Amino acid sequence: MMAVRLLLLVPLAAASKMTLVETIPLLDLDEIQLTPGAVNTWEAQVALANGAKKTLDVTFMYENLLAESDAPHASSFSRDLTALGVDRGRLVFEAVVAAQRRGVAVRVLASPMGGTANCSLVRALRATPAKFAYAEWDPDAWYGGGIMHMKLWVADGASAYVGSANLDWASLAQVKEFGVLVEDGAVGEDLGALFEGFWAMAALKNDTRLARDPRVAHDRRVPAWSALVAESERAADPLARFGTPWNLTRPIERSGFPDVFVAAAPPEVVGDAGRMTDEAAIVATIDDAATSASLAVMDFSPASAYAQRGEAKGVVFSWPAISDALARAVFARGVDAKLLVSWWPNTDAASLSYLAGLRRTARSCAFQYSACNGTLEVKLFALPGWDALASYPSKYGPGLNGTYPAYTRVAHGKVVVTDRRANVGTSNWQWGYMYETAGASFNTGDAAFTASLQSAFDRDWASSYAVPLDDFLRDEREAACRGRDADGRAKCEAVIASLLPSSEL
Ligand SMILES: *[C@@H]1O[C@H](CO)[C@@H](O)[C@H](O)[C@H]1NC(C)=O
Ligand SMILES: *[C@@H]1O[C@H](CO)[C@@H](O)[C@H](O)[C@H]1NC(C)=O
Ligand SMILES: *[C@@H]1O[C@H](CO)[C@@H](O)[C@H](O)[C@H]1NC(C)=O
Ligand SMILES: *[C@@H]1O[C@H](CO)[C@@H](O)[C@H](O)[C@H]1NC(C)=O
Ligand SMILES: *[C@@H]1O[C@H](CO)[C@@H](O)[C@H](O)[C@H]1NC(C)=O
Repeated sequence: MMAVRLLLLVPLAAASKMTLVETIPLLDLDEIQLTPGAVNTWEAQVALANGAKKTLDVTFMYENLLAESDAPHASSFSRDLTALGVDRGRLVFEAVVAAQRRGVAVRVLASPMGGTANCSLVRALRATPAKFAYAEWDPDAWYGGGIMHMKLWVADGASAYVGSANLDWASLAQVKEFGVLVEDGAVGEDLGALFEGFWAMAALKNDTRLARDPRVAHDRRVPAWSALVAESERAADPLARFGTPWNLTRPIERSGFPDVFVAAAPPEVVGDAGRMTDEAAIVATIDDAATSASLAVMDFSPASAYAQRGEAKGVVFSWPAISDALARAVFARGVDAKLLVSWWPNTDAASLSYLAGLRRTARSCAFQYSACNGTLEVKLFALPGWDALASYPSKYGPGLNGTYPAYTRVAHGKVVVTDRRANVGTSNWQWGYMYETAGASFNTGDAAFTASLQSAFDRDWASSYAVPLDDFLRDEREAACRGRDADGRAKCEAVIASLLPSSEL
């Protein structure tokens, strides 16, 4: 790659920076303030667009910066869109379009769902076709499932955002998000290579094989170059040239930071030069913890959340990777682990069974002749307003009126922070996100960044919005299943009732 070689000769900007990025929902969230030193997601994205000189590459699942999905339903929620922060979406939208009008070449890589090809941002950018390219990354053709769920911005191949925020005004103002803004030529180059790999894959004609995956003990459809395919039938990896060697044991060289790497999902995009998968990076972060591990995620289950399609139709894949890493940390290394999992009307109540089971497992190292030196505490994180969401009328039902717009008031970030490292990701912790959906995580052992993320986690954990699992099941059960339709509520209540007989969960 010519660009990579040329960059080697150019000295990097003296001041590399790595900044925690957060969205703290506006209104009614008194206990949670932006971490000192962190920046808001909208500010980070506007800064990237304003600072771009030549190129801006952006990936997204869907776009709703101008609240077009919410405005027609504004009578179904009582809060005013302006007070909710809708202008932040417009600021990001306008900054991207203004960059392009200044001459910055913008590339958008989207999910082929929800009309992304004709969303407002894409329409505005298409007006200057010489400085715009659009592609869709469609894992359905390669795996029979999955989406583009990576949220990555790269400006001039030199500064970048990676995090949980969707390209939605609500992700800038009403959904709690974690991300990172990195200004560093070597990290930007690595993220640029990752973008190029996905971009190249989007242009390929699907070529797949049915292969045995020993991790799930089942056959599944994968790209023809997957490591799961027997060598005799395996195709050459068409994305190999985008692979980079950087990982936990060999962090990015020439970066202004001694210890940074980027991981990605699914496995077939990482190449075999060294880049780790998202799953491997999360597990390695937990395995590396010496005394503490703090984990926060929206959805966490030890399985595939969506039943498989295609040849494995209806099958559920087991996925114990993170559970096992937590057990190792608690059993063998005396780590004190804290797990903060979000709760809102879209949470699968079955995850409560799993979390209760995981905690029992973590306590089961205390047998007669041994002691548990580590601990696992689990809390449910429910932001004020989570049970007062509107939902909009659709083919599934008449909708619900509420205080806030649909799909807001939830903690959507995905992070691990230990006494030694940080992992800031875009993927939920479920099988599909790791194996057939596009995702990325930013990883570092940088002490200042890790301390900043730890303080953000500690703030959330200490707030009254984070409720210990036992208290949640005992005290909040009347409230827990609010905000769901009749069917969803019945299922949710049944799960909670099934957990109640055991007092010591
Ligand atoms: C794209 O969206 C615009 C505005 O909503 C609409 O007028 C137009 O018909 C759409 N085009 C396509 C191809 O869907
Ligand atoms: C390739 O993609 C096309 C279009 O999405 C689909 O019809 C076809 O079944 C796919 N082929 C395989 C082998 O998955
Ligand atoms: C990191 O990549 C190097 C190649 O650069 C490889 O030898 C090593 O095994 C990788 N380490 C991990 C933890 O994947
Ligand atoms: C675990 O705890 C026991 C009892 O408190 C203690 O004797 C032992 O040294 C601890 N082991 C480790 C590895 O910390
Ligand atoms: C929501 O409120 C509107 C009036 O603002 C009313 O017309 C509508 O029927 C209500 N919808 C539901 C599902 O209650």
